[in-house]
Amino acid sequence: MMVHRPRKAPAAERNRTAILDVLQRVLPPTGTVLEVSSGTGQHAAFFTPELAPRRWQPSEFDQALIGSIEDWCQRTDSARLLPPVELDASDPVWPVEVTPPEFPISAIVNINMIHIAPWTAALGLLAGAGRILPPGGFLYLYGPYRRGGVHTVPSNEDFDRSLQARDPQWGVRDLDDVEAAARAEGLVLDQVIEMPVNNLSVVFRKTG
Ligand SMILES: C[S@@+](CC[C@H](N)C(=O)[O-])C[C@H]1O[C@@H](n2cnc3c(N)ncnc32)[C@H](O)[C@@H]1O
Repeated sequence: MMVHRPRKAPAAERNRTAILDVLQRVLPPTGTVLEVSSGTGQHAAFFTPELAPRRWQPSEFDQALIGSIEDWCQRTDSARLLPPVELDASDPVWPVEVTPPEFPISAIVNINMIHIAPWTAALGLLAGAGRILPPGGFLYLYGPYRRGGVHTVPSNEDFDRSLQARDPQWGVRDLDDVEAAARAEGLVLDQVIEMPVNNLSVVFRKTG
C-alpha cells in the first residue's frame, strides 16, 4: 500500500495559528527551539518561517513519524529547520545533550503530549528542560489541564475518560501537579494563557 507522506493531523492544523501567536510573544528572540514530540512535523514546518531567526529542532519518540517530519523539512526548505532526532522524553539523557545544536537551545516546546503519554514522560520532559535550558530559558506546554483537582469543562472530563479507556496511564494532568514537578527541576511558572477549545498555554522559566 502506498504511504502518503508528509502526514497531517487535523488537531495540529486547527491549533497552529493560536499557538504561533503565543510563541511569537513568549519565545526568546534567538537560539534553537527544541520541540519534544513533533508528531507529523507540520507544526515545525508552519512555525519555523514565522519564528526567524530562531532555529527549530524537531524530535519524535515514535520512529514511524520521523519520515513524515523529514518530508515536512524538505518542503519547508529552510536551513533553520533542523533534521529530526529520535527523543524519548523519559530518557535520562537526551540526544541533544550528547550532540548539541550549533545554536544553543533557548526554549523547549511541547504540544499535546503530557496527557497522551504516561506521567513518567511528563516528569522526564520537566527533568530534561531543567538540565538543558539556560537560566532564563523557557519551556512551553500546550494542552488541556485540570485546575485545583477539577476539570474546567465537561468536555475535558469526557476527553480524560476516553484517554484513560485507551491507556490507564494517560489522562488530563492537573496544572498544580505539573507546576510542583517543574519547580523541583528549577522551573517556575511564568504564564498561563487560555487558548481555544479549553486548552492552556503554560510557560515555565528556568531559574538562575
Ligand atoms: C497527540 S500527539 C501530538 C503530536 C504533536 N505535538 C501535535 O500537536 O500534533 C502525542 C505525541 O506524543 C509523543 N510521545 C508519546 N510518548 C512520548 C515520550 N515518552 N517522549 C516523547 N514523545 C512522546 C507521540 O509519539 C506523539 O507524537
